[in-house]
Amino acid sequence: MDIALISAAYIVAALLFILSLAGLSKHETARDGNVLGMIGMALALVATLWLALRGSSALNWLLIAVAMAIGAAIGIWRARIVEMTGMPELIAMLHSFVGAAAVLVGFNTFLATGTEGSDGVHLVEIFLGVFIGAVTFTGSIVAFLKLSARISSKPLMLPARHWLNLAALVVSATLLVWFVVSHSIVPLAVMTAIALAFGWHLVASIGGGDMPVVVSMLNSYSGWAAAAAGFMLGNDLLIVTGALVGSSGAYLSYIMCKAMNRSFVSVIAGGFGSDGAVTSGDVDYGDHRETSADEVADLLTHASSVVITPGYGMAVAQAQYPVADLTAKLRERGVDVRFGIHPVAGRLPGHMNVLLAEAKVPYDIVLEMDEINDDFPETDVVLVIGANDTVNPAAAEDPSSPIAGMPVLEVWNAKDVVVFKRSMNAGYAGVQNPLFFRDNSAMLFGDAKERVEDIIKAL
Ligand code: TAP
Repeated sequence: MDIALISAAYIVAALLFILSLAGLSKHETARDGNVLGMIGMALALVATLWLALRGSSALNWLLIAVAMAIGAAIGIWRARIVEMTGMPELIAMLHSFVGAAAVLVGFNTFLATGTEGSDGVHLVEIFLGVFIGAVTFTGSIVAFLKLSARISSKPLMLPARHWLNLAALVVSATLLVWFVVSHSIVPLAVMTAIALAFGWHLVASIGGGDMPVVVSMLNSYSGWAAAAAGFMLGNDLLIVTGALVGSSGAYLSYIMCKAMNRSFVSVIAGGFGSDGAVTSGDVDYGDHRETSADEVADLLTHASSVVITPGYGMAVAQAQYPVADLTAKLRERGVDVRFGIHPVAGRLPGHMNVLLAEAKVPYDIVLEMDEINDDFPETDVVLVIGANDTVNPAAAEDPSSPIAGMPVLEVWNAKDVVVFKRSMNAGYAGVQNPLFFRDNSAMLFGDAKERVEDIIKAL
């Protein structure tokens, strides 16, 4: 009876996860999608606890309860204090936990069941689970370090790096055969060390501009690591959930690659698309023009169409609230205001959409890059708020640029462009931006939030 109920709970939880993913795919339904996911997870937790601890001693229940209380306390504390700008690295860190869990489950399962009498399939499951988990673990830690700027975002260019990656895969495959034949822990341990180094190297060799793909790729890996843990533990729901995360992460990576005009294989093979040359300001593009909040207010007063293209700087400045106020003010005056969102703007897929939704900017004026790019020639003013790489004409015009080929928001086609940033520094990819030196561009220096507030005052 118990088992039937638990299976039913698992099926309902799996359905809720699928509905949650469907909900998350649109602004309007994202909140409901989150709620469905949370209900599914609560149901899955209760059912799994019941399954694992049926007839178990009070001590086991106590140990689990203490572990969950500590985990929940840390989770709630971190979630409450994390800034929106810190989300990408927090997510990378959480991915590393999934990887570590898969490694620990793998070793535990092997020590408990694998040493003798175990069939080959079970041993392959353990080996692959530990391999994916170890790669996810160190890869996510490097992503965390890069995204939080604790290490440079420049790609690590070891000599013969592709051969090193290939050697790691070939040696691991050989160790798999040894493991299945010998049932010994030695090949498993050696492979774990190789996989840890492999994961580290794989992400370290990917350059700044390609990091969006890495984030979604590690998301996908963490799903496959969870699915592998599900196979090892014989838990169907973990397999289904892991596969959902793995496949949606893989699809997101595909979308990111398409958005950046990169081949998925070349990115995950470690920075094929980049030669590691990260330049910053070594080309002379001429002089830039500076403007003031009053001048921008004047420009906006005479504009009939305005497009706002936000980027990572809007997240840093937390400028989304005054940006929403400015939008409302201009719309009240009959100005057509729309937003153009680049798929990799910010540091997280959907980063800008989340910020704008938080500030209650109407969804119907928030457009994707492809939807707005053709409209720039008919636009009076573009406000580039803390965006840089995603509006860089070098991507379209300079084949030697590290971001060459990446589709960007073609803001320079508008009549006037105002760029909000604090200095002439390069963006995340470390590439200088010729947009700042165009005749129709003007720089509004300072913190984006303060400058937008100044404009509102001046209007
Ligand atoms: P970025 O190229 O990162 O540039 C952001 C700009 O904001 C900087 O040039 C900075 O200039 C400015 N800024 C920072 N703080 C500011 C503040 N308080 N007020 C005003 N301006 C401020 O931005 P982007 O156009 O959004 O491009 C995103 C980049 O991140 C891409 O290269 C993308 O590949 C990468 N990336 C994206 C993701 C995802 S999934 N979206 C993940 C990892 C990496 P100053 O310092 O001069 O102010």
